[in-house]
Amino acid sequence: MPDVLRLGLAGLGTVGASLVQLIDRHGNDLAVRCGVPITIAGVSARHRQKSRSIDVSGFKWFDDPVALARDPGNDVFVELIGGANGIALDSVKAALSSGKHVVTANKALLAEHGVALARQAENAGVSLNFEAAAAGGIPIIKTLREALAGNTVGRIYGILNGTCNYILTRMEQDHLSFGECLTAAQHLGYAEADPAFDVEGHDTAHKLALLTAIAFGTAIDAESIYVEGISSITPADIEAADELGYRIKLLGVASRTDSGIEQRVHPTMVPKSSAVARIDGVTNAIAVESDFVGQLVLSGPGAGGDATASSVMSDIADIARGDKIGTFGRPATSLEPYRRAGIRLHEGGYYIRLSLYDRPGAFAAIAKRMADHNISLESIVQRRRAPRTTAPGHPVPEAPQPVILITYETTEVAIREALDGILRDGHIAEAPQMIRIEQFG
Ligand SMILES: NC(=O)c1ccc[n+]([C@@H]2O[C@H](COP(=O)([O-])OP(=O)(O)OC[C@H]3O[C@@H](n4cnc5c(N)ncnc54)[C@H](OP(=O)(O)O)[C@@H]3O)[C@@H](O)[C@H]2O)c1
Repeated sequence: MPDVLRLGLAGLGTVGASLVQLIDRHGNDLAVRCGVPITIAGVSARHRQKSRSIDVSGFKWFDDPVALARDPGNDVFVELIGGANGIALDSVKAALSSGKHVVTANKALLAEHGVALARQAENAGVSLNFEAAAAGGIPIIKTLREALAGNTVGRIYGILNGTCNYILTRMEQDHLSFGECLTAAQHLGYAEADPAFDVEGHDTAHKLALLTAIAFGTAIDAESIYVEGISSITPADIEAADELGYRIKLLGVASRTDSGIEQRVHPTMVPKSSAVARIDGVTNAIAVESDFVGQLVLSGPGAGGDATASSVMSDIADIARGDKIGTFGRPATSLEPYRRAGIRLHEGGYYIRLSLYDRPGAFAAIAKRMADHNISLESIVQRRRAPRTTAPGHPVPEAPQPVILITYETTEVAIREALDGILRDGHIAEAPQMIRIEQFG
């Protein structure tokens, strides 16, 4: 180990600036804890003249992050730029080729290139650490990689996107629409100007892909994840969930099944009594079910400069102490090929909301479609809306009425075929809403 650990820091944005402040504030304590002082030897960002919340005038400046990654004046390259490809990938590869340890918070980079980069790090005998890449400040990577090394994981699931959880929480608490809550999230800086990556579930899928690889020892396969976002959730669904004893959360779930590993991201009805149901606002939570320790739940800030910098520093501290653990908790060459259990094989309960025309035989047709696919119903809630009127005293015939069905455990393929049939029968006014129910414990 060198007598000082020198960092090359690429990216001085939200996370990079917090990391500079953290080292400034806790440098002395870190030197004691790690047995070696940690200093910033060089920095890189896009605009040198940009006004920043931190003073970078004392650090050696590099216009090009690749040059910083190759510079012999630093021992650890810290990549806090972002993006799956381009300069982030080039600079991380350059650092590993130069025999340097790498710490990154970049989930997109790892979801796409994680296994190849882990192999490169192993061949070079260096660390590639990424605690901050999944769930920001929550130490889930270390928990899976180190603390649960003696366990076989059966299922891991969590609320991995603060923007979506904020929107769903506000919809429930303030009886607002998805659009109104998204606008509020944008005003508060929780959602990007283009929110699709968050609200359509892709950010959650990137994080889930990384967690799956460590939890199940399989190669990353982000493309195989079934992804559904939250934009189709309506106040009617939130209200019905509440009455039936559930909350709706965007969950990322990976579980071991007989057919392979199931990975899915979708709005999920969770029982109000479950730990994840109680996670509100931008907070994240992850639950791990494993054979020896049982269930663990970690919750905390999934984003934000300071929380994320805290995780980046824990990776740097490991390197300073000389702790070297395979990127995914085992040699990259021993990661098994990912065996996918497709969503059509999923088994569970379902919530279905139909807008059913109020006409004779309509309900019987629904019941028949369900029975034809061996789907048993746990509950049926029919809400009668006051009929709309065309003119005083003349109700519109066949005004659609909301009907909510909760099924017992069945298969996804059965539900989809039954709903296709119901749609074809022509007794409903709009496409059915279907939300999967997750049971715990
Ligand atoms: N923010 C969070 O809460 C959070 C949470 C978990 C993980 N992460 C991850 O952490 C990473 C950084 O996120 P962030 O929020 O800190 O991003 P950010 O605020 O947008 O900062 C990005 C930094 O990269 C620099 N940069 C961009 N292109 C560059 C280039 N071509 N050459 C050199 N520098 C370049 C920017 O330079 P300028 O400052 O000069 O523009 C900026 O300093 C991402 O991978 C992100 O996914 C972030």
